Amino acid sequence: MTNTLLILPGDGIGPEVMAEVTRIIDWFGDKRGLAFDVTEDLVGGAAYDVHGVPLSDATMAKAQEVDAVLLGAVGGPKYDDLDFSVKPERGLLRLRKEMDLYANLRPAQCFDALADFSSLKRDVVSGLDIMIVRELTSGIYFGEPRGIIEEGGQRVGINTQRYTEAEIDRVARSAFELARKRGNKVCSMEKANVMESGILWREVVQRVHDADYPDVELSHMYADAGGMQLCRWPKQFDVIVTDNLFGDLLSDVAAMLTGSLGMLPSASLGAPMENGRPKALYEPVHGSAPDIAGQGKANPCACVLSFAMALRYSFDQGEEATRLEQAVEKVLADGVRTADLMQAEGGTPATTAQMGDAILAALDASL
Ligand code: NAD
Ligand code: IPM
Ligand code: MN
Repeated sequence: MTNTLLILPGDGIGPEVMAEVTRIIDWFGDKRGLAFDVTEDLVGGAAYDVHGVPLSDATMAKAQEVDAVLLGAVGGPKYDDLDFSVKPERGLLRLRKEMDLYANLRPAQCFDALADFSSLKRDVVSGLDIMIVRELTSGIYFGEPRGIIEEGGQRVGINTQRYTEAEIDRVARSAFELARKRGNKVCSMEKANVMESGILWREVVQRVHDADYPDVELSHMYADAGGMQLCRWPKQFDVIVTDNLFGDLLSDVAAMLTGSLGMLPSASLGAPMENGRPKALYEPVHGSAPDIAGQGKANPCACVLSFAMALRYSFDQGEEATRLEQAVEKVLADGVRTADLMQAEGGTPATTAQMGDAILAALDASL
């Protein structure tokens, strides 16, 4: 089977971190006989500059055909004043929606070498390995009605939180399936105390559990308390399943447990395609980081680890994914540090490309 990849570097540090991933993709072709048929294209502000839209129909069509899409980041101050409909972020949201990537897997793993970089105590984060499953194609991000309207002589901003039973059911299944391969525990987070969508969310998750996953330990938590518990004692969690907006917030909170937003990968998965592989998009959790773009300061690890997730979830190459994750872990243990990881003791300062060099050297050493 061929392995097709669409690479969308995007804006800001997106192209910088993706350049390192491209070298790593080539390494797997040269050294592991794992060839990828790679196409590169535009998304976000970069696409707007050329096409006047943040994702062209042609790029959208390509994304639907490939085995996996790899995205850098989108957005930036240059595009702040654009009409909402053509903002860079709309390109990413269109990809998620039209590919129907309903399960967004956001692992937060604390590498031992980085335990002192977290704003929390080493004891609280060392050995942490949790997985946030964020519903990605519905909820308040997409619910109708939405917009800014005139009412009673003033403007009113409107967004609608909305979930169908089917949407909750399928993302709950993704979470339970993942839990079975990990610590066998799921905590579902919503606000059933104030939102009807939360009441339905809790009910459906419980129903899916009781019918098909009674062997998995299930608990429910209000999402605000969940945020507090993530900071208090994150190791109580294994898999967290939550809606689109709560998942967005909670995964940024979880990012800081690992030391840096520059470390967090993600996979967004949909239904299986004809070849049995899921529709899939992989991207770092971080954004385009305009404050450091163009300076060689970006940490490429989140994007590199996103490619490792692609190896695991799209290409059934779990062992090669582990090889890449261990290469990153070794480089961190050796003290190689991009600027975002320099706030505590020593280490060897590295640019984005030097971090890439070090990961490639660790991959060579793994053979
Ligand atoms: P951000 O993630 O871009 O940056 C937040 C902070 O983290 C910044 O100080 C940045 O320098 C730092 N940071 C992020 N990634 C880093 C990395 N790899 N290495 C080192 N430091 C890193 O979030 P923001 O500033 O809120 O948003 C900037 C733009 O990115 C906005 O336009 C936003 O909409 C967009 N955004 C895009 C995505 C995406 O493409 N998936 C995600 C989040 C934000
Ligand atoms: C993320 C980002 C996106 C989101 C934006 C850029 C659309 O914050 O991937 O976490 O809100 O989902
Ligand atoms: Mn976010």
